[in-house]
Amino acid sequence: MAIHLSSLRSPTQTFVQRTKWLLILLGMLPLARLAVGFPLSWLGANPIEFITRSTGTWTIAGIAITLSITPLRKLLNWPWLIRLRRTAGLLAFFYACLHFTTYLWFDRFFDVDDVIKDIIKRPFITVGFAAFVLLIPLAVTSKNSIIKKLGARLWQRIHYLIYLIAVLAVIHYWWLVKKDITQPVIYASVFAVLLGLRVVWKMRSTRTRVKLAAPPVTKGSRS
Ligand code: HEM
Repeated sequence: MAIHLSSLRSPTQTFVQRTKWLLILLGMLPLARLAVGFPLSWLGANPIEFITRSTGTWTIAGIAITLSITPLRKLLNWPWLIRLRRTAGLLAFFYACLHFTTYLWFDRFFDVDDVIKDIIKRPFITVGFAAFVLLIPLAVTSKNSIIKKLGARLWQRIHYLIYLIAVLAVIHYWWLVKKDITQPVIYASVFAVLLGLRVVWKMRSTRTRVKLAAPPVTKGSRS
């Protein structure tokens, strides 16, 4: 009797797969809004500024969502959540590419000299560009075959870059807003909580490991 492959898949796998597709679908909604809104003139008086800001917002939000997956997985005890992290990270990278392309195309008209001058001259562009460049190795090394080639330790080291990227993203946002710093402060606080939780968990696990490694204190062992 032939066994259908799908019957060998656990319900959790199917559920995770569906949730992944749902995440991709939700992740495409901001792009759909821009794609529909642009020809229909829904994006206000300055549609290019609207697109730049929208794609920038979804990049930083994507980074925050990606960084929140591990804490949520631990707090909710949902181990499967980890399998959505790569999708969330790639969506953030996708919006970063759209954000940079909008700038390159509609703001600088593909004038590379002008772009280089702008990166050097305007500090908020410098840090935004640095954040974007640092996202590239994370996206490139997200494939399973590359993770295997690199080994878990090196892969983990490369992916620690996400913390630096989060800091640079907040600085980029903070420096570009003229007066109202509410949004960058909100993102800074979210990142501080997400990074703080990791530091606390790391310290706890190190302490537990030290305790387990220490030899038990027996009577007469003290001098
Ligand atoms: C990880 C990388 C990046 C993140 C997270 C990011 C995020 C953001 C955010 C949140 C905004 C403001 C959105 C708003 O006003 O509501 C923004 C605006 C902007 N970003 Fe980025 N950005 C990144 C990379 C870049 C790069 C590489 C460039 C160009 C080289 C760039 C150029 C701009 C420009 C020109 C604006 C609009 C400034 C204005 O309206 O005055 N960004 N970005």
